[in-house]
Amino acid sequence: MEYEKIIQILYTELRDIEDNGQVVNYIPELADISPDKFGIAICCIAGEDFGIGDYQEKFSIQSITKVLTLCIAYEKLGEELWKRVDVEPSGTPFNSLVQLETDDGIPRNPFINAGALVVADTLISILENPKEEFLSFVRRLAGQESINYSEEIALSEKKHGFRNIALGNYLKALGNLNNDPDEVLDFYFHQCSLEMTCSELAKAFQFLANVGVNPIDGVSILDKSKCKRINAIMQTCGFYDESGEFAFRVGLPGKSGVGGGIAAIHPGHYSVAVWSPRLNLQGNSFKGMNFLERLTTMTEESIF
Ligand code: DON
Repeated sequence: MEYEKIIQILYTELRDIEDNGQVVNYIPELADISPDKFGIAICCIAGEDFGIGDYQEKFSIQSITKVLTLCIAYEKLGEELWKRVDVEPSGTPFNSLVQLETDDGIPRNPFINAGALVVADTLISILENPKEEFLSFVRRLAGQESINYSEEIALSEKKHGFRNIALGNYLKALGNLNNDPDEVLDFYFHQCSLEMTCSELAKAFQFLANVGVNPIDGVSILDKSKCKRINAIMQTCGFYDESGEFAFRVGLPGKSGVGGGIAAIHPGHYSVAVWSPRLNLQGNSFKGMNFLERLTTMTEESIF
């Protein structure tokens, strides 16, 4: 398959299309991103990597990190983890509070903010230095030591993230946080502030397209069954109340972030990362979704 050629064509087709999406505005430090950035990177399991546009520029990967924290928690806790967080699509926005009360504090899935806070809580309990250990995990996956948190973005969210603060306190009140909500939120805001390029992100997700084995060093990150389950959750819950639409139009497991990034994988074939900061109404990158839809259409390959 000539992915490089196809991506070049799609990049040129999409670069200048009309995009009325809005850059995220509820995290002030993120509101200044130049809205017309557009980058794509692909890592093929067969060995070839390719990038185009702003693919070497760092951006805030935000909720995409929820996949990576989940991998550590699942690997360490195994099936116990699902006692505290479910695996059902929520059909609600990522920051919604409404279901927590009726669901007795068990978030519908690990990718809505409530679920990611529970996963963050497990990491604080399991790891000695959660922030440092999470950072080295991502650096190892991407093979890139320069990856780091943005203290400015983490602080900006801490100051303005009132819905997350409410979720943290509510989870604690409902008995589903073992640690102090402030500590959990501090870790969560840092994980979301992680800055990576498309090329680093595609590399970091490669193991999920490769039955859990990191092709950089041949080390198994997740066993085959766990890898399958993480991909299933990405497929069903990776785009919040637009997860069905993403499966329908694209047909790949993926995860979005409000920084405008999307990481997706085609098992056995490739991992791909796209960045375009203008978001649609559900908080997913408008151009990113459009690109991935055209990619699976043009290659005539998806998981379905
Ligand atoms: O917690 C938040 O609201 C942000 N740090 C992350 C949200 C996000 O990326 C949702 N993704 N589409």
